[in-house]
Amino acid sequence: MDVQAVSRMRLPSFILAFFALALCLPLFAQTPALIPQPVSVQPLKGSFRLNAQTTIGYSQAAAKPAAEYLATRLKTPTGYRLPIQRQGQIQIRLNTKANPALGAEGYSLEVTPQGVRLSANAAAGLFYGVQTLLQLFPPEIESTTKVKRATWTAPALRITDYPRFAWRGVMLDVSRHFFSKDDVKRYIDRMARYKYNVFHWHLTDDQGWRIEIKSFPKLTQVGGCRVPRYGKYGYHVAPKPGEPATDCGFYTQDDIRDIVAYAAERHITVLPEIDVPGHSMAAIAAYPELSCTKDTSTRVNPGSRFVEWYGNGKFKMLIENSLNPADEQVYQFLDKVFGELATLFPSTYIHVGGDECYHGFWENDPGCQALMQREGLQNTHELQSYFLKRVEKILQAKGKKMIGWDEILEGGLAPEAAVMSWRGLEGGIQAAKLGHPVVMTPNDYVYIDLLQGDPLVEPDQTAYKRVRLQKTYTFEPVPDSVDARWILGGEANLWTEKVYSIRQAEYMSFPRAWATADIYWSPKSAKNWDNFTQRMEQHFQRADAAGCNYARSAYDAIVTAIRQDGKLLAEVTTEIKGLDVFYTLDESLPDRYSPRYTQPVEIPEGPVTMKVITYRNGQPLGKMIALPREELIRRVK
Ligand code: ACM
Repeated sequence: MDVQAVSRMRLPSFILAFFALALCLPLFAQTPALIPQPVSVQPLKGSFRLNAQTTIGYSQAAAKPAAEYLATRLKTPTGYRLPIQRQGQIQIRLNTKANPALGAEGYSLEVTPQGVRLSANAAAGLFYGVQTLLQLFPPEIESTTKVKRATWTAPALRITDYPRFAWRGVMLDVSRHFFSKDDVKRYIDRMARYKYNVFHWHLTDDQGWRIEIKSFPKLTQVGGCRVPRYGKYGYHVAPKPGEPATDCGFYTQDDIRDIVAYAAERHITVLPEIDVPGHSMAAIAAYPELSCTKDTSTRVNPGSRFVEWYGNGKFKMLIENSLNPADEQVYQFLDKVFGELATLFPSTYIHVGGDECYHGFWENDPGCQALMQREGLQNTHELQSYFLKRVEKILQAKGKKMIGWDEILEGGLAPEAAVMSWRGLEGGIQAAKLGHPVVMTPNDYVYIDLLQGDPLVEPDQTAYKRVRLQKTYTFEPVPDSVDARWILGGEANLWTEKVYSIRQAEYMSFPRAWATADIYWSPKSAKNWDNFTQRMEQHFQRADAAGCNYARSAYDAIVTAIRQDGKLLAEVTTEIKGLDVFYTLDESLPDRYSPRYTQPVEIPEGPVTMKVITYRNGQPLGKMIALPREELIRRVK
């Protein structure tokens, strides 16, 4: 209401309006900040208060794990050892008659001052309902130590919720940098809070083979070790002749079973990826006979340069890193490797990579040429397709389905393969039109290894591309032109060339993997950027309580430049609404008393640096970015 409208009101109605507003405020203040956003939330009056006497009930044996998980999660922050029994104030129940609206993963949650009722058709729905219930309590519920707090309340409400997509994944590359079993579990725990259900584990690549294969011990003894290098990955010195490879890391089969079980308890399927026929230098270092050149000097790559990139997806490998598709030994090898994988991983699919495979060595190999002639293969794409069709048969014989990156379309898709579309949406569209299942992971939206803010203030200043949070949030997995039934869902993919620790993995993952949680779970119609950023900010508090790292880059200014009438002008925007930008051009550090940005700023000639910082409500929020004039010139649009 505007000021004049207020002044025209008679006093009593103004006072009434004031009190009405004041009464509503607690309701607004309690609007829960849930990620992913549920299908429907109906606020009720009051709140549920948890205390040391609260009981947790489970109606059937199959509902007990959700009750136990809830009790465990509550115990650390509250210190309460809540009893788990058949009847409780928090009652967790499987529907005896399925509610068709909820499907296999949906749930109904009712919170009232008297108690909590959670129901679902299956255990997964109960688990997701528990995650939602936990998000209703204050952020300190995420604390990893006991919190002193007088009350733990959750707002009363009724939620009906179910996912938009059946495949909601996060990929973690453990080849480029190895992450311990505990790190992986912690990462899976972070995923579970946001209702992800696929942990895509990129286990092998040129820089390390990370899974024990009993039939081929050298895969980890040799392929799991590289020469130690420090500092910026990608710029390292190549292994020197005779240099010992002492930087080792791999998961034993017991570790794998442990992680698979841990994920399963959280309703997460582990999708293993063995990347073939390319990206196989670590395997070739262990078993050079698997390649065309059989070069016994091949070493596991320690992050040194071995590819020439020509743009437009064209490249040349300076060291052979592809398996030889013309050698029967290779198929015998893969039969054993995938055989062991099939016994370790209950997932329906196994990911076989298939991406960025260099064919140059195949083109020069007499065995490959003879095979192509024999099989009538017109080019090396068809040779790769021949290879993948045989791999699909190997997987099928072990009761598994094949999924691969979108290059597996080239030369002809294997009959029953699913496609993971990463070079954009195009591969996914093509596969869906051919009637194949698709998982959408276009790098321009959901590659969470890419820079998320200004390179001047992000950890890696040489990253080749950027995906800001807002761009991720705009991602829509179902293109207009395809039948939505073929789109299983999507992922957020974390490649780790430039991710050196689990803390940095978290920094790269969040909040972008919260945005994708919304995209893959919530109804398309719920999408609302401002609303997401408000929820996100409350989840920053939860992450703080949990000791989980995350990026605040969405608070930073976005600075570009234009030329106008021969002048250089800096333009500043922000991703998040309602921020004030202050700047200096005089070498001093900007604060809220500095000039406030309202329009493009002329940058005078000379050794001038523009320094910008964002504020909100008088408090600094974003990182300060210092842009020398030459940098602004480089940014002219
Ligand atoms: C990929 O990013 N090479 C799948």
